[in-house]
Amino acid sequence: MSNEFVTRSLDEVRFWSRIMKEHSLFLKLGFRCEDTQLINEANQFYAVFEAIEMKANAFTVGTDPQTILRFNQEVHNAASHIWAFKRKVLGLILRCQLPGANNFPLLVDHVSREAFYFRNRLEELNTGRLEPLPDAIIDENVFFLRIMADHAKFISHLLDPSERKLVDQANQFSHDFDQLLFQAKDLESMRPQSQTAPLLDQFLDQNRVSVKSLRDFKKTARDLIEACRIKSIIHPLLADHVFREAERFLFIIDMFENSLTGKPVPALHNVMD
Ligand SMILES: [Fe+2]
Ligand SMILES: [Fe+2]
Repeated sequence: MSNEFVTRSLDEVRFWSRIMKEHSLFLKLGFRCEDTQLINEANQFYAVFEAIEMKANAFTVGTDPQTILRFNQEVHNAASHIWAFKRKVLGLILRCQLPGANNFPLLVDHVSREAFYFRNRLEELNTGRLEPLPDAIIDENVFFLRIMADHAKFISHLLDPSERKLVDQANQFSHDFDQLLFQAKDLESMRPQSQTAPLLDQFLDQNRVSVKSLRDFKKTARDLIEACRIKSIIHPLLADHVFREAERFLFIIDMFENSLTGKPVPALHNVMD
């Protein structure tokens, strides 16, 4: 139990609780007006994660690690519940019990994967069981590359079909990230032999280039949507949300790169030590 445990816990919880809060809003907006029970549940999750976010922002590096341990447990519980809610909604959509609702099944599956990831991070933090660096590099990239590929697909499908140029660009990103994901899966199945420093380093470099360009595309899309310069059914907050997730992935790539090359990094980034 140390300061680093507190710093890292707060960093994860601050980022992901805001994400979970926003998922509740997006799910709510996609329900039909008669789905009042589901709308209520979504509102409750919004309030739960908003309270968690506020609590996390009020804690500091100096907070007692035992307090953070209990807080992480509480957040873990909330993440498990929102995961179950998302899977329930996915089941309803796939069994055609919400005809006319506006949440894509892949989007609901996607937000449930993010909840599961968050839950898993909290477990790792609280038990102190972190994966060895070479495994973490591959697993985190497999997770985030799929997330990025999904985002490109959502953007493409939520833009107005008349925005032909932007739809093409989004489809191109979707294709690029599917390819990167397959490459990551190949590296995954070739492990442990594939886990050499040069291969992992090249893997991170290649992913970073593509994530930066997707991040810039999302930023442009977000700014255009906010200024009402393009036709779409993308909520401005969703545009910002996917931008922030790309930034998070870049931050993780850089952290891995630093750990791999042994560059000195701030304590927060030293996740694998
Ligand atoms: Fe998300
Ligand atoms: Fe996402």
